[in-house]
Formats: sequence, structure tokens, C-alpha cells
Amino acid sequence: MSVLGERLAAGLEFPTGFVWGASTAAYQIEGATTVDGRTECIWDAFCRRPGAVADGDTGEPAADHYHRYADDVALMRDMGLGTYRFSIAWSRVRPDGGPVERRGLDFYDRLVDELLANGIRPWATLYHWDLPQALEEKGGWANRDTAFRFAGYAEAVAERLGDRVPLWSTLNEPWCSAFLGYGSGVHAPGRQDPEAAAAAAHHLLLAHGLGMAELRRYAPAAESGITLNLYPVRGEDAEAVRKIDGLMNRLFMDPVLLGRYPEDLLTDLARFGFGELVREGDLELISAPIDMLGVNYYRGYEVTREPVPGSEPAGPEWIGAEEVRFIPDPTVPLTASGWQVEPDRLTETLVNVHRDYPHIPLYVTENGAAYPDVVGSDGQIVDTDRIGFLEAHLRAAHAALTQGVDLRGYFYWSLLDNFEWAEGYSKRFGLVHVDYETQRRTLKHSAHYYSVVATTNTLPT
Ligand code: NOJ
Repeated sequence: MSVLGERLAAGLEFPTGFVWGASTAAYQIEGATTVDGRTECIWDAFCRRPGAVADGDTGEPAADHYHRYADDVALMRDMGLGTYRFSIAWSRVRPDGGPVERRGLDFYDRLVDELLANGIRPWATLYHWDLPQALEEKGGWANRDTAFRFAGYAEAVAERLGDRVPLWSTLNEPWCSAFLGYGSGVHAPGRQDPEAAAAAAHHLLLAHGLGMAELRRYAPAAESGITLNLYPVRGEDAEAVRKIDGLMNRLFMDPVLLGRYPEDLLTDLARFGFGELVREGDLELISAPIDMLGVNYYRGYEVTREPVPGSEPAGPEWIGAEEVRFIPDPTVPLTASGWQVEPDRLTETLVNVHRDYPHIPLYVTENGAAYPDVVGSDGQIVDTDRIGFLEAHLRAAHAALTQGVDLRGYFYWSLLDNFEWAEGYSKRFGLVHVDYETQRRTLKHSAHYYSVVATTNTLPT
């Protein structure tokens, strides 16, 4: 038996049918921001603000995926990935939030067909943070009407692609859209207004509910749901834990999965006018049944309200929790993003979600890490750190399975190096290295490692 054969034979096997994939998002990889009728989204505008994005980077050229999608699909096929999670750009499909632009939809039509022709299942996300700028100028997500505009956009996409796309997320990480976009302003549209952030959270959830209705109408056989960034929160100060866990996790999971906002959050957020936003019928829409929950996991938090040495105050994205402080653990290694590497807390997250909301199947729709990748003189990218990160998190996912969690699949973030929002191109998360000058793609060692896992359904020892 070969060495790899032996390592696989002794390795951890995943259940038959476990889904392996990689994720991307439109603004982060497509480039081509001015072609085929696309208009500006909030990130195009935000990138023009001096100092908003590292090195003044913008969505051009990104990975030029708009023109190179067929090559990228071939890479996935060669890696043996069964499913590809990508997002659709609202401002290509309904520029300015208005009438449908056929050429924009044509692009996703070609992408979906290319994936299917290569045996890869498409998973489409309707909203990964790129609101048309014209809608932001009418109030953006702080305006209730935006949720209804989203429904119109969702209808156009679902009508066109619903016959071929078997997996859908309405939104990706609405916490970021609401609280980084309108609370701290470190993401587009860059507003610092806690009332707008609270309103955005509710209107995004409403958009999710309205979007689900369109998916049910045009893609009744598909598995559809929402993707949330869930972060396990711990600490000895129960009040601090309650507040951060509430804002980060329960504010989104409870309305979607239980049909109500948590009482404690309604109290905390009352001073931002949250209660008045919720109209009759909203929670029924928001809690329409979903088929699965996408979990994006990157790290955990430890919190307190004490001025513990080394702790940092909560930023303005944590509306109503200004007194909370975050405690870093200096013994834990960090990724290039400065995030603690805590694989055990992925198990904790999945087990907790399964305990509190037992009936919903889960997918890890994102998990990954930026590292300072170096292209060797032989052209190889030996990203040992990323392989270690992946292996540890896959073990953690497997541990959740053995504890009874209904986990159906895992998606690495990201397929390609890409535009990491306010960090620009400085942070590389890809399995595939992108040379932004030449757009040359090179599989990193982690891509080869992940390919073995995906094609054997086993984690080698
Ligand atoms: C989550 C987001 O969905 C994605 O867009 C981002 O690049 C990764 N986290 C890494 O920060």
C-alpha cells in the first residue's frame, strides 16, 4: 500500500454523500465591474473613500473571474470538488435595483451550465454584501423598502436559474451587512449609525423571508436557506456573554428558526427603535421553513465587562453592548488576519446550534484562513499553515458528526485568493493562488491536500 493509501486507511472517514466544496463571492472575484450593464454597488462607492480599503484597492481586477469562469470551473473539476458556492451580483441583474439586465443574468446562466457540464453542483447565494448603490442612496438596508426590492431581484434570479441550481442561500452573513456596514462603518456603505444598523438587521431578515418565498416558487425542489456567521462566545461574565451571543447569534437564528426575536435583545435594542420596526406578519415571513442552515465559522470570542489587562473594548458594531470587552488569548496562534485559530470551537458551535435548534441540517458554508503565502523560486506555494488549519478544522467538523450533529457538508473559504473587503488584496485565503498582474492561477499545496480529502471522503492521518 502506498504511504497515502496507508494514511487514508487509518484516517477519519466522513459519511457517504458528505458534500465537499469551496466558496467565493461575486464582488471578491469577478472584476469586470463596468461591463454588460452592471452598475455600481455599495462596495464600488466605498472603495473610492480615502482610507476605507487597504492600499486603495477596489473590485478591479479581482480574479477576473467574469472572464475566466470556465478556467476556474476546470480547476474545481480537477480538484474533485463536488459543489461550488458562489454569489450573484444584484447590480448585474437589476442595475440600480430597477429592471432586469439580461446580460447580467446570462453570465450566471453560463456559469451554472459550465458547472453542471463538469459535474459540479452550483450553490448560489443571492446577497453577499453588494447592494446596488442606487438603493443605498434611498436609505439602503435601513429602509424597509429595500427588502421588497430584494424580493424582486430574487424573483428574477430564481425564475432564470431555479430549474438548475439545487442549493441556495438567500443572504450571506447579515450580521456583517448590518453591523459592519451601518454600525462601525468598516464595511460598505460605511455608515456609523446604531439605529440604521438595527433597522438593517431586521430588514435583511425580512429580505431573507421574502427571498425564500421566491425560491420556493421557482426552485421548489432545491435545498434553500440562509448563511450566518456564528461565533461561540464564552467568559465568566454571564451578562457580557449574553449580550454578545445575542447580537451575533441569537438575533439571527431565533427569528429564522423559532419565529421570534429574543426578549432580552428586544429590551437591549429598544433604545435604537428596534421594536417599532417589526410589523405584523414580519416574523411569519422571516420564519418560513428553511431546508438547511449555512454556518460560517472563523473564530470564537471571550468577553467580559471588567478592564482585564490586554482586553479591548467592543467596537461600535456592538450596538447596545458598549461596556463589553474582548479578551484575546495570547497562547493561541493567529492567522494573518489576526484571528485566533480555534478549531475546537467549530465543534462547539455546531454542537450548540444542533442542541438549540435540533431539526435543522447544517453545512459549514465557510471556514478558512489567510496566511502570508510565498511563491517559491520553483513556483510552488507550500502553505503548511493553511494545511494545518484545514486539517484541524476538518477534525473538528468530524468530531461534531460523531456527537450527533446533522452536518451535511463543508466548504473552504475560499477557492481563489480574492478581494478581502476592507483588507483589499493584502489577505490571501485561497486554495488557489492568484497573481493579480497576470491572473495566473496556481494550486497551493493546500489545494492538493483538500483535493485528496474531497475525492476520498477521508481525512488522512
Ligand atoms: C466571511 C465572508 O463571507 C467572506 O466574504 C470573507 O472574505 C471571509 N469571511 C473572510 O473574512
